[in-house]
Amino acid sequence: MEKIKVLFAASECVPFIKTGGLADVAGSLPKYFNSEKYDVRVMMPKYTCIRNEYREKMEYVTHFYTDFCSRNQYVGIFRLDLDGVRFYFLDSEFYFSGSWPYGSPCDDIEKFAFFSRMVLSALPLIDWKPDILHCHDWQTGLVPVYLNDSFQGNRFFHYMKTVITIHNLKFQGVWDIPTVMEKTGLSPYYFTPDKLEAYNAGNMLKGGLVYADRITTVSDTYAKEIQTPFYGEGLDGLMRARADKLVGIVNGIDTTFYNPGNDKDIAAPYGIGDALEKKKQNKLALQKELGLKQDPDAFVLGVVSRLTDQKGFDLVDCVMNQICSLPNIQFVILGTGEKRYENMFRYYASLYPDRVSAQIYYSEAMSHRIYASTDAFLMPSLFEPCGLSQLMALRYGSLPIVRETGGLKDTVEPYNEFTKEGTGFSFANYNAHEMLAIITYAKHIYEENRKDWDDMVIRAMKQDFSWEASARKYEALYDELMEEKLIEQTPADI
Ligand code: ADP
Ligand code: GLC
Repeated sequence: MEKIKVLFAASECVPFIKTGGLADVAGSLPKYFNSEKYDVRVMMPKYTCIRNEYREKMEYVTHFYTDFCSRNQYVGIFRLDLDGVRFYFLDSEFYFSGSWPYGSPCDDIEKFAFFSRMVLSALPLIDWKPDILHCHDWQTGLVPVYLNDSFQGNRFFHYMKTVITIHNLKFQGVWDIPTVMEKTGLSPYYFTPDKLEAYNAGNMLKGGLVYADRITTVSDTYAKEIQTPFYGEGLDGLMRARADKLVGIVNGIDTTFYNPGNDKDIAAPYGIGDALEKKKQNKLALQKELGLKQDPDAFVLGVVSRLTDQKGFDLVDCVMNQICSLPNIQFVILGTGEKRYENMFRYYASLYPDRVSAQIYYSEAMSHRIYASTDAFLMPSLFEPCGLSQLMALRYGSLPIVRETGGLKDTVEPYNEFTKEGTGFSFANYNAHEMLAIITYAKHIYEENRKDWDDMVIRAMKQDFSWEASARKYEALYDELMEEKLIEQTPADI
């Protein structure tokens, strides 16, 4: 039987380039499909900021020229096979130069309209015809739109199915209609309220949400939340209207990469058998590295995060003095993002040098050390489509303290002191004192009921957050689309 061919189109992907969880998903999920039945490949921009180590290994496939935004543009196609997955890279120095994948919002509209269109233009040239195009977030939202537009003139594209995954509904790729029209080259036909227009603006994500055959998002709870005005980011009506095509499939993590048993970035690798002992060694090593008081019994709270409004740091700001006045507590934070949060954490680190360490940069290695060395991991998000950091924390036995929203609600089971169940701690309302109360409670359990705490560490580490179960759900979705395609095709098309 012929394999079902799926192409992921994404703006970032590990190990090549990562600014957030989208890259983790686009880079790790393709490895987990049943390779006897599914051939899943990935296409992304060939940014000049991808490390040379990878750029040098990319193999030239071909190139073409195209007219886009009144310019004639070179587009190169490169490929690289890694861990059994084929990655394609679209090369355009005009669009993909610079030290970061993203730039000003308006430039990004043009950049990713270009990328979305070129994904389709490149397909007939790579000797591989996908059955399904699986797009991710607003940057590839126009793929289903362009597919419906000029590409329908080419038989190659007939009956190609599309899926769009929402990793974060907050980012939609929005600009005024005349600009979006000019930059995308789409005709006025597409700029009506039933298509790309939303609130008098052009909206690239909305295009994908209207035109894709299926919509997925990264947890069951977020799939429900985005149908409500609070979480719907202005598109809750559309999400309700398309609810029959919308499904939540929770993210997993690459459990071979995030593996405390053979992690070269941590001081003392460990498994379930020696976690309690070795986590202490890791804690002491991190305290030493960061200049905190070396104390194996201090209650160390960690954060690894983009520093944005989404992540709930205004709650932390509100009660940081109270958190820091709890006896024997330490707070380690690794992150970059909005200046006000970066400075806020720098400020608290200067105020409490012996108990707060603010690492304001991006480091994969340091993130692993924090997951491995902390006792608890704080994620008080305002909203969280899925969240991967809490899964990594669980895998390393750092118990998550989370707000009950999106994927945080679906993946962290709150501690129950009566039934002795749970893998972390949670609070419901977006309220700083509720968060403070649950941090204080978690610390109390750590100090006064260590047996329950230790049991919970082991339970957390035993949770299965590999991609296996979720990959099967994506496969079922692809199967469904293939059945639809069979029904739609006329005998002459097959
Ligand atoms: P989001 O995608 O919204 O940022 P996720 O929890 O899904 O949130 O994914 C965040 C990913 O980025 C995790 O892999 C986390 O470890 C990583 N990360 C975030 N900030 C940093 C940082 N400063 N250094 C290293 N890794 C980071
Ligand atoms: C987004 C979300 C995050 C999710 C990630 C991967 O960045 O903010 O919750 O885990 O995408 O799907």
